[in-house]
Amino acid sequence: MAFFSSSTRQIPQAAAVPEHVAVIMDGNGRWAKKRFLPRFAGHAKGVELVREMVRACLERNIRYLTLFAFSSENWRRPQEEVTLLMQLFVKALEQEVEKLDRNGIRLRVIGDLSRFDQSLQGLIRDAEQKTAGNTKLDLTIAANYGGRWDIIQGVNRMIAACPEKQDDWSEADLEPFLSMAFAPEPDLFIRTGGEERISNFLLWQLAYTELYFTETLWPAFDTAEFDKAILSYQHRERRFGRTSEQLPGASDA
Ligand code: IPE
Ligand code: IPE
Ligand code: MG
Repeated sequence: MAFFSSSTRQIPQAAAVPEHVAVIMDGNGRWAKKRFLPRFAGHAKGVELVREMVRACLERNIRYLTLFAFSSENWRRPQEEVTLLMQLFVKALEQEVEKLDRNGIRLRVIGDLSRFDQSLQGLIRDAEQKTAGNTKLDLTIAANYGGRWDIIQGVNRMIAACPEKQDDWSEADLEPFLSMAFAPEPDLFIRTGGEERISNFLLWQLAYTELYFTETLWPAFDTAEFDKAILSYQHRERRFGRTSEQLPGASDA
C-alpha cells in the first residue's frame, strides 16, 4: 500500500476508555440563575465538579483531562465577574495542589499567562514544578486560552527555532510548539450547557475528536453524566477516513 500524508498524527487504538478527554465546562451562570443565586455561586459549585471529574478520571484510568476554564474572550465579561473568577482560580491553586500532587496528578496551565498578575503566574509556575514528576493523570487547565492564539504562538516559535528555514513547513514541524504537544489529541470532547460550538478551544487538536454535547449545566455534570458521555463515545465508530470494513476486528461477512 502506498504511503500518504495524513493530517491526523496516527490512528489511535480504539479503546473502551478514552485516553484524553477535553471539556468545555459551560453553564455555571445559568445554573446559579435558576436557583436565584449570583453567577459566582455557579462558578464556585463548578470547582466542586472539577474535583469530582478528576476523581472519576483517576478511577477510570483516563490519562489526560483538559479543561477550558477561561477563554481569551471571557475578559469581555463584567470586571467584577472576571475578578471573582481569578480569585477562585487562585484559591483553587492554593488549596488543591497539595492534594493533586499526593494523587500523582501533573498539573499544567495552558494559555497566554502574561495577562495574569504576577502572583497568579507565580502560583501556576510553582504548581507545575511541584507536580512535574507525576504520571497518573495529566490535568491541564486552559486559562486565557484561545485555539487561534495557540496556533499563532506555535508558528512564531517554530519559525524562531529554525531561522534559516524559509518555507515548506509541515504539520509535524508545528506540533511540538503547540500548547498540547505533550499529549495525544483528545479522543472525547464534552461541552456542557447546551451550546453546540467550539468557542475557540483546541482548534488544531480537535480535528478528529468525537464530540459530545449535553444540555446538562456544568455544576450538575456529575459522575453519572460523565459515564453517559463515555458510553456515547464507546458507541462511536472512529474511522479516521477508512471504511467500516477496514477497521480492526471488522468481519468480512
Ligand atoms: C462557564 O460558565 C464558566 C466560564 C466561562 C468561566 P458560564 O459562566 O459561561 O455560564 P453560562 O453560560 O452563563 O450559563
Ligand atoms: C466557553 O464558555 C469557555 C469556557 C467554558 C471557559 P463561554 O460561555 O464563554 O462560551 P461562549 O462565548 O458562550 O461560546
Ligand atoms: Mg457560557
